[in-house]
Amino acid sequence: MDKRYNLDYEAMVIKYFDAKATEYDLVEEQVYWRLSDRLLWTVLIEQVLDCLPANFRFIDAGGGTGRWTIKILQAYPHAQALIYDLSMSMTEQALESAQKLGVSDRQKICNGRLENIDEALDPGFDLIFNFHNVLGFVQSPHLVVTQLKTLLRDDGVLVSFVPNSYHATFFNIMRGRLDEARRALMQNRSRFTEDMPDMHFFTPTAIAKMYRDTGLIVEHLTGFPNLIYPGYQETQLRGSSSGIQNVLGTQEAFDDIYEMEYQAQKDGAIVARSNNIFIVGRKLAQSVKS
Ligand SMILES: C[S@@+](CC[C@H](N)C(=O)[O-])C[C@H]1O[C@@H](n2cnc3c(N)ncnc32)[C@H](O)[C@@H]1O
Repeated sequence: MDKRYNLDYEAMVIKYFDAKATEYDLVEEQVYWRLSDRLLWTVLIEQVLDCLPANFRFIDAGGGTGRWTIKILQAYPHAQALIYDLSMSMTEQALESAQKLGVSDRQKICNGRLENIDEALDPGFDLIFNFHNVLGFVQSPHLVVTQLKTLLRDDGVLVSFVPNSYHATFFNIMRGRLDEARRALMQNRSRFTEDMPDMHFFTPTAIAKMYRDTGLIVEHLTGFPNLIYPGYQETQLRGSSSGIQNVLGTQEAFDDIYEMEYQAQKDGAIVARSNNIFIVGRKLAQSVKS
């Protein structure tokens, strides 16, 4: 194992997610995250899922409780999934949900570090994705992107949804945490709350460069939500900040704001103000740099 790999940090990440595992999916009841999830699902279908062969095989890297895997298996009945995650408590939830929803025969689970994933699996996947802070919590995002790329088949795609440094800067300034804001801006390291492990953040330029440096061709770069920002309560598993609840509280307002968000993200230039950055990279047979 890489001598720089920090086992204490890994233990902190596992402890953090073990404590959240049984309640993690409550996030789907929070109105802000419902908006974000709806955008992610729509853009994922349009840019990625509908372009794959019907029987595509994918890895949900840091897939946790399987929220995205299960959605995909339900919508694409010939797809096959592998969830790869450090936390057994999180993946126990994924197994339970898949059994309940009748998709467990197409969902495999593997517990391990993404930093070693290429030793655990054979290559040839059509799609690999990592959503919501996974590249934030791994110890070397560059190493992990490199490993994931090796597991793709030629022409396969890697998709990441990663936390934006500029958003973390804004969020921490608004909470009066100027040291955290400065670290997010200058070092691309920060956190939203005291109890979470410190993590990586990304600028759009940095994540696109990371993709290109590993030989991936960047096909799509945008981000969302852009027009409405979360408050403190959205960093927790329950409740909504009052501002968010006021703005998104009726179905009519929710749908209207969703439509504006959907239109706004079509202009990739908006990505710098997004909460999370969405990026799609393709592995070409002969790695031609884009
Ligand atoms: C914020 S959760 C996201 C879960 C899921 N992707 C989602 O969108 O609901 C981050 C996940 O990454 C996993 N993780 C963090 N560091 C990891 C590592 N080095 N190797 C594998 N999994 C890791 C955690 O255990 C956790 O389940």
